Amino acid sequence: MSSLRADSCVFVIFGASGDLTRSKLLPAIFNLAEDGHLPEEFAILGVARPQIDQAAYRTQMREQVRQAEGEPLDPEKWKRIEDRLYYVSGEFNDAALFDRLKQTLGEIRERHHIPPNFLFYLAVPPDMFGTVVDGLAEAGLAGEDEGWRRVIVEKPFGYDLESARALNKELRKGLRESQIYRIDHYLGKETVQNIIAFRFANGIFEPIWNRRYVDHVQMTVAEDAGVGRRGAYYDKAGALRDIVQNHMFQVMTLVAMEPPISFGGEDVRDEKVRVLHAIPPLTHDDISQHVVRAQYGGYSKEANVDPKSRTETFVAMRLFIDNWRWAGVPFYLRTGKRLPRRVTEVAVQFKRAPLMLFRDTPVQSLSSNALVLRIQPNEGISLCFDAKVPGPFERLDTVTMDFCYAEYFKTEPTTGYETLLFDAMTGDQTLFHRMDMVEAGWQVVAPILDEWKKDTRSQMPTYEPGTWGPSEADLLIERDGRGWRD
Ligand code: BG6
Repeated sequence: MSSLRADSCVFVIFGASGDLTRSKLLPAIFNLAEDGHLPEEFAILGVARPQIDQAAYRTQMREQVRQAEGEPLDPEKWKRIEDRLYYVSGEFNDAALFDRLKQTLGEIRERHHIPPNFLFYLAVPPDMFGTVVDGLAEAGLAGEDEGWRRVIVEKPFGYDLESARALNKELRKGLRESQIYRIDHYLGKETVQNIIAFRFANGIFEPIWNRRYVDHVQMTVAEDAGVGRRGAYYDKAGALRDIVQNHMFQVMTLVAMEPPISFGGEDVRDEKVRVLHAIPPLTHDDISQHVVRAQYGGYSKEANVDPKSRTETFVAMRLFIDNWRWAGVPFYLRTGKRLPRRVTEVAVQFKRAPLMLFRDTPVQSLSSNALVLRIQPNEGISLCFDAKVPGPFERLDTVTMDFCYAEYFKTEPTTGYETLLFDAMTGDQTLFHRMDMVEAGWQVVAPILDEWKKDTRSQMPTYEPGTWGPSEADLLIERDGRGWRD
């Protein structure tokens, strides 16, 4: 967040009755208001299909935000939001909705003395993005002759390279790139943003952050939950599209990027996209040996999932970043649903000490030093190193030096959307995907998607829910003489 208060604007949410609005967007707005980051001249307008009146919408949202916050809301603080919360219902492909919207926006602006700045959030399926943007453009709500107009689009941005390009073309009919904010909620997480601070504000890590000292990097995004109510979406997406192509690649680029010449949005994003461009295209052999997919047992019986589904709920893979810093250093990525626990972390594993000088410790048991960035839960950073076990023998054990956010900063948990909404309201695109990054991400996974599409015969590997995926995922890393940190 660059300044204390966001710009005055009306925040318009399309899909205002959905899960995202209830569980993330409105709670994030409430948290921003609580912390004094919203201006007086601010309002929220929800747009969705259900035909309910404004009073009912306000009541529903109060209850939903209370549930998301997990505690009673401070009545005065909620009232500030509620007095500024409006609702309009209608079909997104109906021009009359956009006329009503325009009129309502005029009334809201007048009542709250808000300049003509609008932040539109498209919390709707991607096949509706174009329809909504067309509607806005036709109603004269997309141009920036007066005030600013910004549009946040939720992921997934496309289904593959081609569809992402087509989608972008549709958006660009009514908007300029500087108006499009492609959101990735991982970039709103404090721990993800801290990767930049950690790497570039501390002099001690940069000299060893390269192929000379780093043996490999492993990244895990594990969830214990299954697909839940999102079967219809997930069955078309799968883990590679849902997590790897966006969240994991974003985190990986922050870990691997070169220092930017400034922390301005374009400079940071230029460096991040270079990382993706440095990944050599995966060949057929790379994919068969170094990419593993699998589905958890029972997935095909989940609601709204094709009983014959070949969608992967687990992916593990090995990638290389062919540049001066990382040549020859494997990056192992692993993600899945129904794994033993929810954990997202990046472990930078350093090379072992060159020689075993300790008689009572066999060289194999000498652990390598690891720096573990714990993205969630138990957010923090640990440094693992060996220490002498007290006593007359020269025995070693691995110990951990730990930094824990919650203990140190004593902050309340947030949704991760606070920073992103605030940044969009102040016009800072640093934490949003630029189109070339989206394309670069799709380019990396395209050969895998193609291989999988061709392969309609082989048995889809499965894994027991509650385990760390199929044994092939262990083999993938063990073949290289390494192991996952579980
Ligand atoms: C979403 C994916 O982007 O991220 C979900 O679509 C996944 O499938 C979620 O569960 C994970 O987010 P978080 O913040 O809980 O790690």
